[in-house]
Amino acid sequence: MTFPNQFTPMTPALSEDLKIPFELWFLEMAPGFPTIRVSNAHASATIALHGAHVMDYIPRDQQPVLYTSPETHLREGKAIRGGIPICWPWFSAHPTNPALPSHGFARNRFWQLTHTKSTPEYTELIFELDTKSIEELGHDCSVTATIRVGAELEVSLTTTNLGENDFTVGGALHSYFQISNISSISVNGLDQTAFIDTLTDKTHTQTGSIQFDSEYDTIYTDTAAETIIHDPGFNRDIHITKKGSLTTVVWNPWIDKAKAMADLPDGDYTEFLCIEPTNALDDVYSLKTNESHTLSTCIRVEDLSL
Ligand code: BG6
Repeated sequence: MTFPNQFTPMTPALSEDLKIPFELWFLEMAPGFPTIRVSNAHASATIALHGAHVMDYIPRDQQPVLYTSPETHLREGKAIRGGIPICWPWFSAHPTNPALPSHGFARNRFWQLTHTKSTPEYTELIFELDTKSIEELGHDCSVTATIRVGAELEVSLTTTNLGENDFTVGGALHSYFQISNISSISVNGLDQTAFIDTLTDKTHTQTGSIQFDSEYDTIYTDTAAETIIHDPGFNRDIHITKKGSLTTVVWNPWIDKAKAMADLPDGDYTEFLCIEPTNALDDVYSLKTNESHTLSTCIRVEDLSL
């Protein structure tokens, strides 16, 4: 996706305590759709208030690391297609109520930017979701997303149960990675890991690296491992580490599903792969009053030409 260039340095959306001159810019990417542009010595990134959604991340002197669809919706209530959608407080369909939105509430709402910080290593932004405004949630809890843009990109999602009853939290950091071509990349790090192929509901064990020649929708289980996208076309490896997650989803829609998605160009399935640090299946967390759970990921590019 090409991002517009006209940034407004003085932002009406940022209060004085949130401004960081020459490091944070406000950009209304579509009417009523504010984003924050971060640029520092190490990288640049665009983060939408809608979903606390990282839309792009470009380490200095590198190509973009994340894919965002040029046909994405940019309006309240519709998830952005690409970047890092935050799925919360469940992954995929709700376990018992099919009427509730797939991947939860967080990616379809505006969050609030509550803190910003500049350090020599990274720029930090903290977003909060107004959970009280989500009627269907029916529980008192807080959820914050902490995003650090530096030589690495870190995203952490912390849920705290503020209610009297236990609260179960799942979700995912549903990251879309920009790749040179789905047919020429491979994914390492999941050798000998069990996975559920959600297209057939069968369980298998991964042997060696993953290659792609058809639709791929799998949940790797009982794994805290780093995954690595090896991309000879872009001469780089993307390293994805995670904490607070024992399930990793690997997804590419391939030809037919891509055609059926209104917010994705038909041929763009070749340009991205989703690797998702996830809390799904049994890997969900029952929080007692005042207990917290943090799901986080760290993304780093290794330039293979160096
Ligand atoms: C992945 C799921 O995480 O998200 C897929 O494993 C799903 O089954 C994909 O199709 C995209 O979901 P959505 O709701 O953003 O279209």
